[in-house]
Amino acid sequence: MRKNIVAGNWKMNTTLQEGVALAEEVNAALAGAQPKCDVVICVPFTHLASVNAVIDQNRLGLGAENCADHEKGAYTGEVSAPMVASTGAKYVILGHSERRQYYGETSEILTEKVKLALANGLTPIFCIGEVLEERENGTYNEVVKKQIEDALFGFSAEEFGKLVLAYEPVWAIGTGKTATAEQAEDMHAHIRNVIAGKYGQEVADNTSILYGGSCKPSNAAELFAKPDVDGGLIGGAALKCDDFMGIVNAF
Ligand code: PGA
Repeated sequence: MRKNIVAGNWKMNTTLQEGVALAEEVNAALAGAQPKCDVVICVPFTHLASVNAVIDQNRLGLGAENCADHEKGAYTGEVSAPMVASTGAKYVILGHSERRQYYGETSEILTEKVKLALANGLTPIFCIGEVLEERENGTYNEVVKKQIEDALFGFSAEEFGKLVLAYEPVWAIGTGKTATAEQAEDMHAHIRNVIAGKYGQEVADNTSILYGGSCKPSNAAELFAKPDVDGGLIGGAALKCDDFMGIVNAF
């Protein structure tokens, strides 16, 4: 059956020293806890190897926030999936709305990234979600379905089964405006139906679907209590150990 996962997305925050200290703090907090979910932190590329050296990945998984859509070569400034894997990271966030919006990542590009992540043994945490206008004009279910179809439906059931999905309504990211638990559950159930329609109910039931967007200790328990919400992708609240652990302990 699917796993419950709480994953931090640090985004472009913390210096290397601050990041290593935060990772150590979370790793130590988890040593004394018995979380009812897998816990992951996704950190800037520059931090990966150093963070890997100070955490126990049996209790705290490590991931990157992105990887390149090419395997290697003349792509100045890019970081490939094999490079990410070589640091010890096991996960990679792909298709985050900030990547789609600010860096022009299309479904085509994201398909390539997912392919390379899987080929290098990384678990993609693949993000989908509508913008405010699409929430307000009622097209959100179609928008999210199309994001999944366009980027992911070329994969086999076996490959798809290796993905983690994260539903992140763009209007809820970093805004303090969380989707209600009902809105999240409706969308997560819809996503699971979309997956079942293509890959069958078993694959759908085994896919972890995380919620992201202003998730905090005060609202996590209500969100995670919903049957189709299998955890969270946490931005701002992942930057403070106490807040992050508050969300982990919401399970
Ligand atoms: P937030 O970010 O928790 O700060 O809203 C979530 C995300 O973008 O992954």
